Formats: sequence, C-alpha cells, structure tokens
Amino acid sequence: MNEKTLIKGKIHYVGVNDRNKHLFEGMWPLPYGVSYNSYLIADETIALIDTVDACYFETYLQKIKSIIGERPVQYLVINHMEPDHSGSIRLIKQAYPDIIIVGNKQTFGMIEGYYGVTGEQYMVKEGDFLALGHHTLRFYLTPMVHWPETMMTFDETEGVLFSGDGFGCFGTLDGGFVDTRINTDKYWDEMVRYYSNIVGKYGSPVQKAMAKLKDLPIHAVCSTHGPVWTENIARVAGIYDKLSRYEAEPGVVIAYGSMYGHTEQMAEAIAAELSAQGVRNIVMHNVSKSHPSYILADIFKYKGLIIGSPTYCNHIYPEVESLLSKILLREVKGRYFGYFGSFTWAGAAVKRMAEFAEKSKFEIIADPVEMKQSLDSLTRTQCENLAKAMANRILQ
Ligand code: FEO
Repeated sequence: MNEKTLIKGKIHYVGVNDRNKHLFEGMWPLPYGVSYNSYLIADETIALIDTVDACYFETYLQKIKSIIGERPVQYLVINHMEPDHSGSIRLIKQAYPDIIIVGNKQTFGMIEGYYGVTGEQYMVKEGDFLALGHHTLRFYLTPMVHWPETMMTFDETEGVLFSGDGFGCFGTLDGGFVDTRINTDKYWDEMVRYYSNIVGKYGSPVQKAMAKLKDLPIHAVCSTHGPVWTENIARVAGIYDKLSRYEAEPGVVIAYGSMYGHTEQMAEAIAAELSAQGVRNIVMHNVSKSHPSYILADIFKYKGLIIGSPTYCNHIYPEVESLLSKILLREVKGRYFGYFGSFTWAGAAVKRMAEFAEKSKFEIIADPVEMKQSLDSLTRTQCENLAKAMANRILQ
C-alpha cells in the first residue's frame, strides 16, 4: 500500500479525487473532475502539507493512517487557505489535538475565522525552515498565488516543491498521480483553463514567485491540484510563465451573442475574411453555448479578440456583458481588440462595448462595426475591413 503512495524520500501522496462536483468555485465546469492534493511526510517528525475538501475527510484520514498507523501527525503546513485545501483543518485538529499548525502571519487569522481553530502555531517568515529528520522544509512566501496568505514549501532534502495552487490544473488522478506513470494528455488544456479561470488575475504575483524559485534544485512539483510533476516540470513552468506574462499565440477569438442569427452572420463574415487573410488559428464561441471558462482559456491563449453583441433592452446582450466583466476581472493584458454589434430600432451594444474597450486598455485595431437589423453588403464590407485590420496586426 505504502509503495503506491510514495513520491520521494518519505513523502506520500494522500490527496483525494472529486468526481462529484459540477462547478469549481460554483462557476467552473469540471468535465474531468478535480483532485485535492495533500502530502504526508512520514519522517521521524511527521508533517502534513495542506488538507483536502472537508467532504472527503474520512477517506483522507484513512489514507494518512494507512501510512503512519496510530503515530501522531506533529505539524500541519498550510500553504493555502482556500477551503478546497483548508476544509479539513478543524477535523485534523480534532484527530491530532497536539498538532502544530505552520503558516505565515496572514494564515492564522483565516484559520480562526473560517474554522475557529487556535492552538500551537509555528509562524514562519520568508526563508524559515522546519527540520523533520531526513527532510528539511524551507518556506517561501508567495502572496496572491492565489490568496494573500499563499506560500510554497520546498523540501531541500529531495528537491520537492509543494507549490499550492501554483502549477496546478483541473482533472482527477485516475490510478497513478506522478506524471511518469500516467497519461497526461487531458491535463494540458485543463491547465490553461484552470490558470485563466482561477489564477488568471494574478500574473504579476506568479511572475514574482517564479523569480523567487528559479534557482532551487526542483526535482518534483507537488501542487494542490493535478499530477505530481517530475519529467514535465519545464513544460508546466513554461505554461505558467507564458500565461502569467499574458503572452499569446497568433490567433483570434471571436465571441459573440446572437438571438436570431444576424449578429452571428457578422461573426461569420469576420472569421471568413480572417481566414482569407491567412490567420489559421480562429476560435469562434457563441456565448450562449460555450461556457465562459473555455472562452477565457482561449482569450489567454490567443493574441486577437473580437467580440460581438446584439442590443438587448438598450444594453449589451447579458451573456456578452457577463463575459466582458470576467475579462476585466482578470486584467488580461496586451490583446488586439475589435468589436461589432447590432440593433433593431436603437443601437446601444456597440456604444457600451466602447466603455469596455477603454477599460480593458487593449489595442483597438479598427472602428467597430454596427449593423441595423440584417447584414447588407456595406456592413459585410465593414466586417471584412475589421477582419483585415486584425489580420494585419496578428500576422505582422
Ligand atoms: Fe485550490 Fe486557491 O485553491
């Protein structure tokens, strides 16, 4: 049994898989589920790294006890307080009343606030360490990857980084949990969607954390979601580096709302002209069908963004407006932007999307196109001109 959970040295995987939840954070679909990863270091002194969602506590405790029996866990390191990881703190404290919780000065107020748990603490500062016997843990503060209290823990003995949400992805761990022993295909797109939806606003803190970690001899990355990365560390770090710099590939996302197909015809005309101009990566999303988590992932992936909306109740189509707000929340940077819209008796969507364009600070590649009722040859030409301007910027 223990052989199956062992990662390196005396470090064991004791996380759980959630194949029940439909929406992570109540918003983000989980077609492949999600894992909540926790790690047990069964050294002379025993330490746990993070916990799991409280729904899985019994499974979790059984996993811990299958490795250490009735020996007590002496330390609980809390790298991140979001309840998908901190949810079992109160129950762990009940199971191991003498446990010492390790966190930084941002952590303990949250523990008391969420769980009413107090007691013995080890409050660490940047670079502090904890010797367990074979393993020595060193702590690096990485605020806002993804909350203010987030930190990472590096096992100096085996070169294992416990990275919290950093380098994580959606997708359960089916059978194995180390990348060398599983098919990792499903995780790569889910990593982009996880990053853009969950961590996406915090590009600058991710960059700071990566700069802090860059010289550490890291042989395994144990995040709180998804596989333990060993042979793929460079690929994973490359994805996080690129996304957190808001770097993107040449390509265009066209996201539009359409009630009766007229605004969609504008989107089609734009896409056809982009293709004629030589843009190969064109992704179209009808916002009423594509979940925004997938649209956001594509917006993080591609450099060009064109959004279209009908006028609805003298406003932007609500599903488009919801997408615009999600883009602004993430403070996506450095995109080429174009927009278009339609109306029947009084235009409002295009005018209001101009406010989004200004707030986003994106580079506006051409004047917006506004259509009354249906696509005539003049409006088609305007759509094609918008596409040509975008293609120019993308392909230059
Ligand atoms: Fe997986 Fe920010 O919690």
